[in-house]
Amino acid sequence: MCGIVGYVGPKSTLDVLLGGLKRLEYRGYDSAGVSVIDAKVGLQTRKRAGKLGALIEELEQNPLQDAHIGIGHTRWATHGAPNDVNAHPHLGGDHHKLSLIHNGIIENFSELKAELLNQGVQFSSETDSEVAAHLIAREFEKTKDLTSAFRNVVNRLEGAFTLLCIHEDQPDLILAARRNSPLVIGLGEGENFLGSDVAAFVAHTKRAVSVGQDEIVELRKDSVKVTNFAGTEVALSEFTVDWDASAASKGGWPSFMAKEIADQPQAVGDTLMGRLRSDGSVKLKEFAGFDAISQIDRIIIIACGTAAYAGEVTKYALEKWAKIPTSVELAHEFRYRDPIVNEKTLVIAISQSGETMDTLMATRYAKEKGAKVLAICNTQGATLARESDAVLYTHAGPEVAVASTKAFTAQITAGQLVALSLAWLRSAMPAQQLKDVGQELLKLPRQIEQVLQQGKKVKELAIELKDAKSVLFLGRNVGFPIAMEGALKLKELAYIHAEGFAAGELKHGPIALIEQGQPVIVVVPSPKGEDSLHSKVVSNIQEIKARGARVIAVAEEGDAEVTKYADQVFFIPATHPYLAAQLSVVPLQIFASELASAKGLDVDQPRNLAKSVTVE
Ligand code: M6R
Repeated sequence: MCGIVGYVGPKSTLDVLLGGLKRLEYRGYDSAGVSVIDAKVGLQTRKRAGKLGALIEELEQNPLQDAHIGIGHTRWATHGAPNDVNAHPHLGGDHHKLSLIHNGIIENFSELKAELLNQGVQFSSETDSEVAAHLIAREFEKTKDLTSAFRNVVNRLEGAFTLLCIHEDQPDLILAARRNSPLVIGLGEGENFLGSDVAAFVAHTKRAVSVGQDEIVELRKDSVKVTNFAGTEVALSEFTVDWDASAASKGGWPSFMAKEIADQPQAVGDTLMGRLRSDGSVKLKEFAGFDAISQIDRIIIIACGTAAYAGEVTKYALEKWAKIPTSVELAHEFRYRDPIVNEKTLVIAISQSGETMDTLMATRYAKEKGAKVLAICNTQGATLARESDAVLYTHAGPEVAVASTKAFTAQITAGQLVALSLAWLRSAMPAQQLKDVGQELLKLPRQIEQVLQQGKKVKELAIELKDAKSVLFLGRNVGFPIAMEGALKLKELAYIHAEGFAAGELKHGPIALIEQGQPVIVVVPSPKGEDSLHSKVVSNIQEIKARGARVIAVAEEGDAEVTKYADQVFFIPATHPYLAAQLSVVPLQIFASELASAKGLDVDQPRNLAKSVTVE
């Protein structure tokens, strides 16, 4: 969850580190810090609790001598409160010559710490990370070889970690290691970079190398060597980043989230591009050579949070179009029971980051039981992508705001492409019907643009409801996961109690929550859908209206019935009932974002959260 950056080369190291941290701040923003080594001054470190701005102020008040090698960190606190002392980097050794940053959790830190305390080592922080700094420093004092000291120590650590370490006595070298936590190398000319993801260095180079599980990197300005934990050299597999730094900047928008909501026509269009032909037929080259896909008899979708809601929407398409029994599992629940998984199970793991620990661990567990894994992922070279049998990348571009928006609509779109492709492969539906759905998918980017045009009206509503204590969301069919997603967005951004219910469940309990003035946002299905639930949802609206609810509906253009009963309606263009998911979520995203802004909250970096949840 923390952001990590390293640089060695001729540029101003502070500029590179602070620029990288700015782009990685979405990963965690409880504190930030940097260490650099200058040949004359030696190792210098500055760190501060709070967002990156606090570190920049500290650097203004207490400047350090800029240098040509350094490491930087932005923290999402796990062990120890988010204060100055627990901020990274952590220093090791009696003379504090070693500096270390860490992302993840060292699970055996208590026993390692006890061992060090017995040897008289004094700790400055409450973090698990500091043990690694002291262990490496002590090992280096014995071996006088930083790389072997580092290797000896990482072999003793359990849990999840990306570690970066520099030492004053070896001022040309950054050492890095990863286990169950992301790390990418950026390759430059006479300079090299390390980052938790490519955003850390994409302003400087697009040549990147993913570091594999249990690997160590020795990074110098003109060389990169990667070995496994045993010391055997491994080949580098280079890839080119397909977006540039401007894609990860706000570009004039008030927040990354506002920009990313507006990016959705492009995110969905790019995800469809090259996969859906103009006649509406689908062929996924990602399935070439993935022969096991024709043998599967059930699908389990594994994901967390918003990605799990994308999975819920996808489930409808997989069952209806491809006729394959499908269930959706929250990754952290799946792995801790005894799910029925075998060689005929296809696991579809959905993750924007491809680094969510719960999703990775559940996917590995399913693989061990024989399942085949297809990843739907937005991040090139991510661990999930590398560990899966096949990957369908969503081409949403970098998503920086903690609240997921464009990745969500792109994930649903990718899921629907998978469902259509499987339906084609299995001849599960008449070809013309499949082409008709494909034709509707092609219209989605333009239709999302139309929905975005209602942003101003949605903003007015958000301002009006900014003091609401609770907002309820209702939906049926694919509208149900959209209702849950709308509620999640409001909770995480505006800190308002919000819940999404299946509208049919209302009478089984939740209707008791309705009282005078209670805002309820209802995602209404199309009146024209073949299994239309429209009239049932309109009845639900009447039931809650009768009990005093303030009803805001998201409904298909021309839906006169809803207009009669709802207090306010946001319209979406007519489409296939399942594709309405990508349209009806847009006003809910804008609502949450604008309401949080109206409350004066930080839309991009809501409290207590981080973009990629790389701990369990
Ligand atoms: O990177 P992932 O898609 O695996 O992330 C999964 C969830 O942590 C993520 O969707 C989270 O729920 C977002 N904050 C929601 O906006």
